[in-house]
Amino acid sequence: MGHPLQRCWKDCAWQTVGDMHDRYEKIPVQVYPEAGEAACRVAVEIASLIRSRQEEGRDAVLGLATGSTPIPLYRELIRLHREEGLSFSNVTTFNLDEYSGLDANHPESYTRFMREQLFDHVDIGEGRTNIPNASGDSAEELENKCAAYEQKILDAGGIDIQLLGIGRSGHIGFNEPGSPVTSRTRVVTLDRITRLDASADFQGFHNVPRTAVTMGVGTILEADKVFLLAWGKGKADVVRIAVEEPESEVVTASFLQRHFNAEFVLDEAAAGDLTRLRYPWLVDSISWTRRMKRRAISWASGKTEKPILKLVDDDYNESGLGDLIAEGENSYSLNIATFNDFQHTITGWPGGKPDANEETRPEKSTPHPKHAVIFSAEPQDALVGMGATINRLKEQGHHVTLVALTSGNLRVRDEEALKLIRCLKTVGQSEQISHQLGDHVERLQVGDAEAALNPEVRKLKSAILRAEVVDSASALGIDEDALQFLDLPFYESGRFRQFHVTDADHEAVAKLLETLNPNLVFVAGSVADPMSPQGIAFQLVAAAIRKFPITTDHIWCYRHREEALKPYEIDMSVPISPVQHELKGNALQRLRAVVDLRNEESLNDDRSVAAAYDELGLAEYEAMEVFQRVKVEKL
Ligand code: GLP
Repeated sequence: MGHPLQRCWKDCAWQTVGDMHDRYEKIPVQVYPEAGEAACRVAVEIASLIRSRQEEGRDAVLGLATGSTPIPLYRELIRLHREEGLSFSNVTTFNLDEYSGLDANHPESYTRFMREQLFDHVDIGEGRTNIPNASGDSAEELENKCAAYEQKILDAGGIDIQLLGIGRSGHIGFNEPGSPVTSRTRVVTLDRITRLDASADFQGFHNVPRTAVTMGVGTILEADKVFLLAWGKGKADVVRIAVEEPESEVVTASFLQRHFNAEFVLDEAAAGDLTRLRYPWLVDSISWTRRMKRRAISWASGKTEKPILKLVDDDYNESGLGDLIAEGENSYSLNIATFNDFQHTITGWPGGKPDANEETRPEKSTPHPKHAVIFSAEPQDALVGMGATINRLKEQGHHVTLVALTSGNLRVRDEEALKLIRCLKTVGQSEQISHQLGDHVERLQVGDAEAALNPEVRKLKSAILRAEVVDSASALGIDEDALQFLDLPFYESGRFRQFHVTDADHEAVAKLLETLNPNLVFVAGSVADPMSPQGIAFQLVAAAIRKFPITTDHIWCYRHREEALKPYEIDMSVPISPVQHELKGNALQRLRAVVDLRNEESLNDDRSVAAAYDELGLAEYEAMEVFQRVKVEKL
């Protein structure tokens, strides 16, 4: 196996993408409508490598990744093993990385992850799986272990297929910003973003290990074939940087640009920031829909720093939008049409305005009042994502039901559970507590991660979050009896990155939808990581609506954890006055138990959207909550 730099034929790789997408993408990229399909395609490649090697009597060497991203792929490999006889007996694996200082059985250790997600379910030989080990040694011993790991990869003949995810810091493995292209397996300090992203898994930022061991960028580049997988909007920005910007240590995934056989496999949400999807008019000639015009013209407005109504023909030409003008329109008429389009997204009546001309309003006013059902993946989501709109719907006489699909207990901090236990003991419930929780209280106190997953502890945490959400909703005018907590089983029996949806989840959501029979529906998670509670919740709601058609032809999507909607993506913007913004702030302050709550961020996001509308030359509001319309037939 030669050195990667000698084998690099970047120019040829460039050719393969050249005619498609251009001068922008420096790595071949495949985009699939959804992650499951993308994962199956990679699984097929892996299976065919394993089988062809079996025919030749040789081993296949796989480089494996952890995190939520590869889970659909591992599930497909397990299915191929169970249903299509794919044997892993000739497979050797090398994992990319491992946290420092975690016991192999720690719920977040990658050793345990790999056992649970793949190794325990296929016939891979004992001793053929390798995971770097970063525990408890002196610096010198660690260095030796890292060198031995590299040697073992070489002895196995090098990696045939390397799987990668990508962190929001742009890392591959744990090669954080600053990792050189020549880096090898070594101990690294984790980036703040990486630790923040792992803080829900570890029950808080401070529990996330500070260091880890990872294969180096140089090690990864030596694999024969590299697949980098990414799902969900959360990855879109860093994917674009890795694919389109010059390679740099700031986003180490960009070093894959120099690999001769690397490919990015993405779902649409993760690909969403690539130029070909975000600014398609820069890449190809396109057919101009109204929405596309809105997108292009608002982009031109941002680029020229002029409000829409002040754009002139030259601005269109200089922004690559000359063909819009050439189509017989002029900037004046285009400006007005686009301005009106944006203007019509703004409404203080999210359930429709009775007795008003509704031709241009986002939501029809009949019937009135409506039955609005607002879904949250975790109980707090809707309050954070659309608290002011919930308040408005209620004030405007609609019947509002908030449905929390999961208990959200994994987000409740251990300290909150301990606080409640202390309270219960003070009021004489000691016996009951020790009966229910046994030694888990002591174990929680010393930060035992397994204890946090105990069902009784989780039950207590569900109760805490439920009480807070009831309190918070009441600040928005929503009574307790308007809240429904489904506590779906996929969440109760799983943990972050490791949820298994079953028929029981589907049935519970479908049944609820049938009972409530709403004519106004709000849900988040349409562009979330499909393995996250929000992504799963969206898929469950979509499946339920397909099964039990609701009496409206569209639903409204709000963003919760993902990047806020851009103006061109917005179909309804609900202005928030300073008083309502304060009301929402007050409601969110009542949620204290949740790890990594997006309170401040979400209040600021609401302000930023309003500022973006202002910059386009529309009205200036304090804040806005915004929504995207999704047709039921598209679900
Ligand atoms: C961790 C892992 C990476 C992984 C990344 C993204 O940091 N060390 O290998 O790619 O997380 O995680 P996820 O797939 O959960 O988004």
